[in-house]
Amino acid sequence: MLLKGKKGIISGALDENSIAWKVAEKCFENGAKITLTNAPIALRMGKINELAEKCSSKVIPADLTSVEDIENLYDESSNLLGDKVDFILHSVGMSPNVRKNKEYGDLNYDWLNKTLDVSAISFHKMMQVAEKRNFLNKWSSVVGLSYIAAQRTFPFYSDMAEAKSLLESITRSYGYRLGKISKTRVNTISQSPTITTAGAGIEGFKAFYNYAEKMSPLGNATAEECASYCIFLFSDLSKKITMQNLFHDGGFSNTGISEDIIDQFS
Ligand SMILES: NC(=O)c1ccc[n+]([C@@H]2O[C@H](COP(=O)([O-])OP(=O)(O)OC[C@H]3O[C@@H](n4cnc5c(N)ncnc54)[C@H](O)[C@@H]3O)[C@@H](O)[C@H]2O)c1
Repeated sequence: MLLKGKKGIISGALDENSIAWKVAEKCFENGAKITLTNAPIALRMGKINELAEKCSSKVIPADLTSVEDIENLYDESSNLLGDKVDFILHSVGMSPNVRKNKEYGDLNYDWLNKTLDVSAISFHKMMQVAEKRNFLNKWSSVVGLSYIAAQRTFPFYSDMAEAKSLLESITRSYGYRLGKISKTRVNTISQSPTITTAGAGIEGFKAFYNYAEKMSPLGNATAEECASYCIFLFSDLSKKITMQNLFHDGGFSNTGISEDIIDQFS
């Protein structure tokens, strides 16, 4: 019961494959009270209501690119959970360029703005609104999800790489600020490729997933394992970890080559 007595907001649970879905389940198992949120269009699928029931939670629609929606999300969460929160998960990403197969050398710049807004600036917006209304408890924890394409080039990841770099930069800048203001820590988890709606939407994903599995001495980290890491980061066990991008990838990021890959080319 690592989160007993804690309250938080979980964004981005679309279906049972979503990383956020597993995080919500584990928050509940660990004694936390949560609200769930997703974009109104995603809620039409209706799946998230199953999760809400399982976690004795409520779903509050919010497009996280909208400051007004975030304000409403925090108002309603306050009403349901009481006052302030102890943790927030940002588990949101989307690139219209990737979705519509627009090549990196032929980006649609309106869509690039959308990619950055949805996948990175929304993280800033969530923290700015929280700061302005003093919505975060002392020693609270804010977590976002990133990918190693922020540091190294993965051609299929296209403009999402820019979004993840920005997300990680916001993590440092806002981590400093919120650390001073409310002892809040802000981190990103750089997760292995994971089979989810967002993940599988990327061209060549399956081949890359298999490659990463063979490159990582511990194998790819699953969504469930990522959820366990989130629980640790929301808990009091991680009080002094902040402004970090934390690789949760079975060792992939520090592996030059593996025997499995060598065998494949021998
Ligand atoms: N799947 C992977 O391989 C992988 C690897 C590393 C990091 N990540 C990151 O993990 C996070 C969660 O993705 P996932 O893999 O669980 O996929 P997912 O598709 O289940 O989750 C993405 C979520 O973002 C939501 N979303 C999109 N636009 C939104 C908006 N404007 N407002 C609010 N919500 C919006 C979607 O509705 C969806 O629930 C993303 O940031 C993703 O980039 C995923």
